Amino acid sequence: MKLSAFGEKFAGTSGIVELMDDLGSALNENPDMIFMGGGNPGRLPEVEAIFQQRLEDVMTDPQQRHSLFGIYQSPQGDKEFREQIAAFLKKQFGWKLSANNIAVSNGSQSAFFVLYNMFAGTMPDGSHRSIHLPLAPEYIGYGGIGLSDSFFTATRPSIEMLDENLFKYHVDFSKLQLNEHTAAMCVSRPTNPTGNVLTDDEIAHLDQMAQAQNIPLIIDGAYGLPFPGILFTEAKAHWNENTILALSLSKLGLPGARTGIIVASEEVIRAYTNANTVVSLACGNLGPALAKELFKTGEILSLTRDYVTPFYRERSQQTVQWFRESLGDLPFRIHKPEGAIFLWLWFEGLPIRSQELYERLKQRGVLIVPGHNFFVGMDDDWSHKHECIRVSYAQDAETVKRGVDIIAEEVAKAYAEA
Ligand SMILES: Cc1ncc(COP(=O)(O)O)c(C=O)c1O
Repeated sequence: MKLSAFGEKFAGTSGIVELMDDLGSALNENPDMIFMGGGNPGRLPEVEAIFQQRLEDVMTDPQQRHSLFGIYQSPQGDKEFREQIAAFLKKQFGWKLSANNIAVSNGSQSAFFVLYNMFAGTMPDGSHRSIHLPLAPEYIGYGGIGLSDSFFTATRPSIEMLDENLFKYHVDFSKLQLNEHTAAMCVSRPTNPTGNVLTDDEIAHLDQMAQAQNIPLIIDGAYGLPFPGILFTEAKAHWNENTILALSLSKLGLPGARTGIIVASEEVIRAYTNANTVVSLACGNLGPALAKELFKTGEILSLTRDYVTPFYRERSQQTVQWFRESLGDLPFRIHKPEGAIFLWLWFEGLPIRSQELYERLKQRGVLIVPGHNFFVGMDDDWSHKHECIRVSYAQDAETVKRGVDIIAEEVAKAYAEA
């Protein structure tokens, strides 16, 4: 098969594709594998019941059923849904926006593909622009997205050591530099993989830098505000005309509905919609059909406050506690868990690389993700990259506990090899 440059890049194997393949085949080979590697949300019976009821209501109403299956929506997404989201955001945060500031996508991942390539890559004058990640490590899923090379740059964070084996990354503004080759900045908040929540001051500072450089600030709110609200710390939602906020229904428990929501200036939304027409023709109708009522009634807020946030908060605290007990005196640190569905563990001076730890854990029936994969846009040989792992705590508690114990055993063995 003779592939184009596009084909070679996207149909070939990149780091992420290899990793996902490896996770997938490990699961196929061993169905009992403890899966702490992927981004699947946890199962919350109360939330599942709400979506099930909603689906039944849609299915018993012929008009709604037809809207769900029988029509192409506009490429910008269901107007009523966009109006409800806009009204909800306006009421909640006082943001000045309308349905024209909202677009729906087939998952936020595909929105990132379009948005990033809309801003970065080869410019009409032949120059090159990149997306800057002000705080690496960042979401692994950005990694393969660029249509051109050198698509990302990143700034190494500063590290604050905290009590009780915790630490926290901060944006290192003394090193963060933008220039005419910077297309946009992007942060996930809460951050996948670390569970970091950039402070309001950090966001304000990034916003001000982006505006001064006349580039957008993209905030990936897949875990964030106002929904699914997987945050365990005080933080303000942020949006203005220069911000592109990407939201998703996935971590509410609907990854299969593939629904992302982009909040941006009308100019960006128009451009995005045109591109989305070419790529997708239209967006799926399932997510909007299931979630519409939640936004109309405001129930989305009680659903996150009463079920989603507490589930992950308790699970994160419990998992940290288990790691403390099982890792004991070993030299470990955990990124302060402030949100998202993962713990980020740092084993300073680990005699083996995190890739090797991943392989050994896979042999023991536990899947995690080795840390170096998350340093998108950072090519230097910082040893820290190979001393970290990402562990999901979204599975049921007993499974997580078993996984924690096995991870601790393998880490202890690795340190003993020094
Ligand atoms: C930080 C972050 N952004 C975006 C996505 C993509 O989510 P989706 O395409 O399901 O909306 C994920 C998925 O895990 C994520 O972790």
